[in-house]
Amino acid sequence: MTMTEPVIELDGVHRRFVDGPAALCDVSLTVRAGEAVAILGPSGSGKSTMLNLIAGLDRPDAGTVTVAGVRVDSLGEAGAARYRRAKVGMVFQFFNLLDDLTVLDNVVLPAEMTGVGRGEARRHASGLLDVLGIARHARAYPGRLSGGERQRVAVARALMNRPPLLLADEPTGALDSASGEEVRALLRELHADGQTVVVVTHDESLAASCATRVVRLADGRIASDTRVVPGAAAGVEGAGAVAR
Ligand SMILES: Nc1ncnc2c1ncn2[C@@H]1O[C@H](COP(=O)(O)OP(=O)(O)O)[C@@H](O)[C@H]1O
Ligand SMILES: [Mg+2]
Repeated sequence: MTMTEPVIELDGVHRRFVDGPAALCDVSLTVRAGEAVAILGPSGSGKSTMLNLIAGLDRPDAGTVTVAGVRVDSLGEAGAARYRRAKVGMVFQFFNLLDDLTVLDNVVLPAEMTGVGRGEARRHASGLLDVLGIARHARAYPGRLSGGERQRVAVARALMNRPPLLLADEPTGALDSASGEEVRALLRELHADGQTVVVVTHDESLAASCATRVVRLADGRIASDTRVVPGAAAGVEGAGAVAR
């Protein structure tokens, strides 16, 4: 994949829920491979709606959503599930880990039904836990881990099937400041390794430390779209991480 290939293309996207104003109105956006995009905006501005459309968890009322060459807006339920398994890794505010599975089994889960053998899946999952610095917790249950550690497990799970796109919705929203910084550093490293990342947040410091591009939503419309140097804002620690 070249660095300029589009990974996400939203074209004229509208989404309106019953009884409300349009949650998204005429949104067009192209995200290219290797970009780290922060979607910023106040509560209710349409950030999660946009992410859910990209993830194939919801469909637009008008417009098209194309991700890694797949017309996501025209997929049925089974197709959308297959698409998510192959093309996107998702990270959420509250981790969405399964508490009665071990850390390792949580990470292995997305590999089921992909045709990857169990042994190979477990080896790959263990490798991810190692890279993310949580290998010692492989056999623990998520409930025993700190918030920052749980989010690392969620990131490992999201990366399990080597998706071309990593999506995160308020990944630091439930974390204390130290754990939040761990997750910011992790997202910076993933971007430095070439991972395409889209992070939805109202946390300006997350955007400032991780993003190469900041898209601001207001009332369901793109209000601004700016290229930035990650970590350029004063006082961001570890800003050199992406300059390698
Ligand atoms: N499933 C839904 N049903 C009805 N209204 C929704 C639904 N999801 C979002 N909305 C509405 O759409 C608008 C945008 O919501 P959302 O995308 O969640 O905003 P954000 O993530 O920026 O806080 C809000 O007015 C919200 O109430
Ligand atoms: Mg939201």
